[in-house]
Amino acid sequence: MERRTILVTRRLPGVPWEDLAKRFRAGDPPPAGTMPREEFLARVRGASGILCTLADRVDAELMEAAGPSLVVVSNFAVGVNNVDVAGATRRGIRVCNTPDVLTDATADLGFALLLSAARKVSDADRFVRAGSWTGWDPWGFLGVPVAGKTLGIVGMGKIGAGVARRSRGFSMKVLYHSRRRMPPSEEAGLAASYRDLDALLAESDFVVLCVPLTPETRGLISTERLGRMKRTAVLVNIARGEVVDEEAVATALAEGRLFGAGLDVFEKEPRIHPKLLSAPSAVLLPHLGSATGEAREAMGRRATENLLAALDGREPASPVN
Ligand code: DGY
Repeated sequence: MERRTILVTRRLPGVPWEDLAKRFRAGDPPPAGTMPREEFLARVRGASGILCTLADRVDAELMEAAGPSLVVVSNFAVGVNNVDVAGATRRGIRVCNTPDVLTDATADLGFALLLSAARKVSDADRFVRAGSWTGWDPWGFLGVPVAGKTLGIVGMGKIGAGVARRSRGFSMKVLYHSRRRMPPSEEAGLAASYRDLDALLAESDFVVLCVPLTPETRGLISTERLGRMKRTAVLVNIARGEVVDEEAVATALAEGRLFGAGLDVFEKEPRIHPKLLSAPSAVLLPHLGSATGEAREAMGRRATENLLAALDGREPASPVN
């Protein structure tokens, strides 16, 4: 067994902790849930590698606690907003993530939320389960149509492009807004037209958020921006909760200034803004974007490969810095 220490913060699909523990000092088996902060800070001391999840904050305090041995933080997620990447870079620590393997799963879920919010699937399901259904109702749960409508994608990375491709089956017109405009050939490939954000919000029937959380995207969907959207529009968030002002969305839904919302992510997970819980046409999911068995196994394999590559001095498959 090597003298180097690794820390896996949680039992994760696709991460062979027992095999890792045969090669490295790995301490007690990882817990089934998120590792409490105090335990994370205590167990990270002297670690060369950390394999963690988006619920683990890897900030200056944590890296300080790890000490100079730390060479890699391998995140079991594509988003790395839980990691102080700039701070890690300054300390010479590699940060890695798990892109690609979750693209389809997350784009599928974006479309599931779009359809569910458009057709009030969650509201109607709750109504049936509550025993409230007394018979077919020509006025009940009227939704908004999807086919042929305009889809606005904010953040045209791999997941955004996946959502655009899925929309072809619904003959939707696709608009997008992104940090960088795609070259004309890529725009043509996705049949997507670039718009500035305000124009996209005003023209779209469905707005799907696929941006990473950065200082520029935090609070992007504010009361003012919601005010630019159609009253019949649906907002879908498969990015990060902090991109959206939840109170503003709940208020817009309650006041009928937005038709529906499909939210997979929240500002203070797992807490949900109480107004959202009672908002009409809101589909609320517990951060399921990558939640297929295949995607999660592949994320674990990728996170393990990244960890081992960086520890062995090889180039990881998906470095962030
Ligand atoms: C990610 O990988 O960033 C997702 O949010 C996790 O499902």
